[in-house]
Amino acid sequence: MKGRISLLLCMSVALLHLAIMLQTTSATPCKALVLEAGGDRGAYQAGALKGLYEGLGSEGIDYDVVSGVSIGSINTIAYSIFPSGEEKEATDWMIEFWEGITRENVFVNWPYSVPEGLFYQKGLFNTSVFIDYVKEIAPRQEIFRKVTLGATDLKSGKFVRFTEELGFEDLAFKGAKGSSAIPGIFPAVDFMNMTLVDGGVENYLDVAGAIDRCMEIADTDEEITIDVIMCNGDTLDIVDTSDYNTIDVVMRYRKVTKYREEMRWINDALVTFPRVNFRYLVIPEKPLKGVPILFNKKHTRRMINLGREDAWKAIEKGPYTQFDKIKETMEAIQS
Ligand SMILES: *[C@@H]1O[C@H](CO)[C@@H](O)[C@H](O)[C@H]1NC(C)=O
Ligand SMILES: *[C@@H]1O[C@H](CO)[C@@H](O)[C@H](O)[C@H]1NC(C)=O
Repeated sequence: MKGRISLLLCMSVALLHLAIMLQTTSATPCKALVLEAGGDRGAYQAGALKGLYEGLGSEGIDYDVVSGVSIGSINTIAYSIFPSGEEKEATDWMIEFWEGITRENVFVNWPYSVPEGLFYQKGLFNTSVFIDYVKEIAPRQEIFRKVTLGATDLKSGKFVRFTEELGFEDLAFKGAKGSSAIPGIFPAVDFMNMTLVDGGVENYLDVAGAIDRCMEIADTDEEITIDVIMCNGDTLDIVDTSDYNTIDVVMRYRKVTKYREEMRWINDALVTFPRVNFRYLVIPEKPLKGVPILFNKKHTRRMINLGREDAWKAIEKGPYTQFDKIKETMEAIQS
């Protein structure tokens, strides 16, 4: 009897060891992509992702997790309808998707035009056509990666996140639609007892969301690698202000504020998650000029090319360097 008990004890200890071993060896590194908010500059992100693919290959951009806000949420879905191994197809299709976008397949006027939009709808334009466009062009309606989309709930004022658990239909046509609903222009989306607008209202870059999802497969921050694609420029030219008038001062002030905000979002992520590997940062060297939301074809193509080139540059500079540069810049600004 005693022998039997100790044998059982032995076995259960062995099992416990096995379980612990399995648990520790089952943790895998996690690679995540974070896509910034940024109006119609989604084409830049598609180009950047293409460039990353060209430089790093399929495996280099085989992301376990994709996190997007606003236009980044639309690219998150576009990328994630392709499973691991189809990174080339994903990036090719994203370019096609953006090249096919025109103003007419993103939004139309309401029957009574702007007055109806202003007083009777939750946004100036009707964006239902965009859903039709996505349904028509999407090769699949299924999500294959872990995703997190950020939106703002007007009811509670909170930043809310949606994941692939919702299923394609709700994630794309409610979550992403809400996440990219620029308040006042595109209609707010009523969903799950929330009223959703652009996630970029308060959070342009959801690094924390990506890390949360990564922790489902990784055990420690060290096992997480993050690439970030921004839409807004990282250089602030030094200007001569001697003949500035009032408007110039206001415009310049806005530019400086915006620039510092952008840098702060990245820097905050670096400071909050010091052990995470922030690998490639693709960021426009110059502001992407153009009238937002007009989806002009020539402009779209230019943005795609800029994104590609900036991705090549980021790879050429080597991993981690772009992030280090931002850290230095922030230290210089704050000192
Ligand atoms: C919004 O646009 C869609 C697609 O063009 C159309 O079917 C729908 O009736 C429009 N909604 C309203 C309220 O006009
Ligand atoms: C929806 O929100 C309102 C107000 O926040 C609350 O009173 C109501 O119970 C909620 N309904 C559901 C179904 O959660």
